[in-house]
Amino acid sequence: MSKDSYEKPSIVRHTAGMMNEFGRPSGLNRCYEIDGVPVEALVKEYGSPLVVFSESTIRERHAELQRAFGLRYPKVQIAWSYKTNYLNAICSIMHQEGSWAEVVSEHEYEMAKVLGIEGKRIVVNGPYKPDTFLLTAVRDGAVINIDSLDEVYALEKIAAAFGGQVEIGIRINMDTGMYPAWDRFGLNLENGQAYEVAKRIVSGAKLKLTGLHSHIGTFILDPKFYQQEVISLCAFASRLKDDFGITLKYFNIGGGFASRNRLKSTYLPTSYLAPTFDAYAEAVCNIVLGAFPHDKLPLLFLETGRALVDEAGYLITTVGATKRLPSGVRALVLDAGVNIMVTSFWYDLEILPVQDRGYFMEDHVIYGPLCMQIDVIRDLVKLPILNRGDNLVIKPFGAYNLTQWTQFIRMRPTILLIGQNGELDVIRDPEDVSYLKQKERLPERLSLSRKGTKEKD
Ligand SMILES: Cc1ncc(COP(=O)(O)O)c(C=O)c1O
Repeated sequence: MSKDSYEKPSIVRHTAGMMNEFGRPSGLNRCYEIDGVPVEALVKEYGSPLVVFSESTIRERHAELQRAFGLRYPKVQIAWSYKTNYLNAICSIMHQEGSWAEVVSEHEYEMAKVLGIEGKRIVVNGPYKPDTFLLTAVRDGAVINIDSLDEVYALEKIAAAFGGQVEIGIRINMDTGMYPAWDRFGLNLENGQAYEVAKRIVSGAKLKLTGLHSHIGTFILDPKFYQQEVISLCAFASRLKDDFGITLKYFNIGGGFASRNRLKSTYLPTSYLAPTFDAYAEAVCNIVLGAFPHDKLPLLFLETGRALVDEAGYLITTVGATKRLPSGVRALVLDAGVNIMVTSFWYDLEILPVQDRGYFMEDHVIYGPLCMQIDVIRDLVKLPILNRGDNLVIKPFGAYNLTQWTQFIRMRPTILLIGQNGELDVIRDPEDVSYLKQKERLPERLSLSRKGTKEKD
């Protein structure tokens, strides 16, 4: 038997960015096309930064959600949460797929009506509903979920003026084991507040309690919290039936399903952590199904927001500058900042190069273009060595950025929709100074063309 030859022990330097036994580092992934459309061509045609939506992804996610719950429960209604993204094109896709609208303000309500959604297909939520808003919602037959006892009083007055009973639901907050609990919205279950208000509604006789609503939080990574939510809601429904003879028309479990975005606090990418729609449905449907007689099943509302639209949105950006920080870390300055990427405060958004810049990678800090220290998109991400003019794609971008964005320092860019057959449609034009200034008024006495202006040589 021959002896193995002696091999001198050695330490082999691991070259950052090269393939190794653990596979390809994620920083080497690129995004050079979106739904088959080359990113460089999009930038050439529409400029940078550029927000892009995939119509196919939205429709697929909607169909997936409908299928997951529809398979397990016969009466499911999705109500698209407008605050997540209320671009007309995005809402219209949701409505074409069968969604109603879920709104929390007068302007969202108006947007849904303008798109042709009847009041009776609009779910009205939120902690602040002025009398004028309630009046419109009642007149249109909208689905109103009250958030406080004050709204009961306001609605009773409106009902008296209309001369008929007004149907309402109550929003309930509860302990599902998830902390911190979202207990500032609606009426509390455990301390008896929700029950007392239900009793008050019944005894007032001007309103009819027909629904229960709860939205326990957002980006909920464990379906067991929904399970607890529906167990509690079903027990409450049964109490309402026994004590007041109430038969519920609907049961609304709110939104909150996680998208595939990555929360800053999580180590693993959310694609490993986020439950599927099937997992959420599995936790909920059987319980509701078992709690009501089969001929009196309430309509099950889902108010899903982020999980339907986040992955459908992309932000294409361009490197404006590269620099070496005093710490030695390399930094990129992009043409898009936190003013249009609010979600970068709580997500580690994925940042992918478009061009092939080789295998060598370095840690980078990614800054936006704003003159603010907090304009940081990612505080540490490995990327190849990019130069001024190179592009990056940031994702998932579709949820909450475009309703919370501002024109601080830089204006908001073009938004493009890629259709199912590759159509390219601008769904929002880029802003300009005249758009920004159109609501302002300059008092005549401040006009610089007026006499009295101090002139300097
Ligand atoms: C009442 C209500 N419903 C639905 C949603 C949508 O939530 P998500 O985007 O987490 O699905 C929200 C968001 O906070 C909400 O407040």
